[in-house]
Amino acid sequence: MGVKQILMVLPEIDWIEDEGLKGAVLRTYERALKEGGWAPEDMARMPFTLAKETDISYADHVRAVTRIARAVYDVFKDIFGNRVPLRRDVLVAGALLHDVGKLVEVEQEGDNFRKSAGGKVLRHPFSGVALAAAEGVPAEVLHIIAVHSKEGDPYPRTPEGAIVHHADFTTFDTIPG
Ligand SMILES: [Fe+2]
Repeated sequence: MGVKQILMVLPEIDWIEDEGLKGAVLRTYERALKEGGWAPEDMARMPFTLAKETDISYADHVRAVTRIARAVYDVFKDIFGNRVPLRRDVLVAGALLHDVGKLVEVEQEGDNFRKSAGGKVLRHPFSGVALAAAEGVPAEVLHIIAVHSKEGDPYPRTPEGAIVHHADFTTFDTIPG
């Protein structure tokens, strides 16, 4: 599957400076797209959520969350300096992968998108961790996938985990539908 096509749909993957981490993120996308039966371009047309009537795509959502997280990083650096240390690559990789499990949680039937059989019993934070772990994504990034959603509420989130969680809900709670 084409790494080039994945980068065209999610160009922010190139923001990851660590080549090893970038490779693991790309391989996780290859694995998830293959398991879900999607082409990279499908990420730009599948809805990011089944919980609202929206034409915001998976790619739009993930790119927005990643850009919000990056903007938070820049503000923190400017205003707080090193008083709130953040790992930029961990933050960006976690934002890019937080919903990767949706590629196996959702399936298409005709023009309709619906929960897959697996998605009915295993929500995307769990399948996302499994996909990313299989490609060697490190624990601090798996953590962000695991705790980005409501399932993560009882657990202490790392600063990067908290930023992705709030960036995700910033884009979810505000959209109509
Ligand atoms: Fe999510």
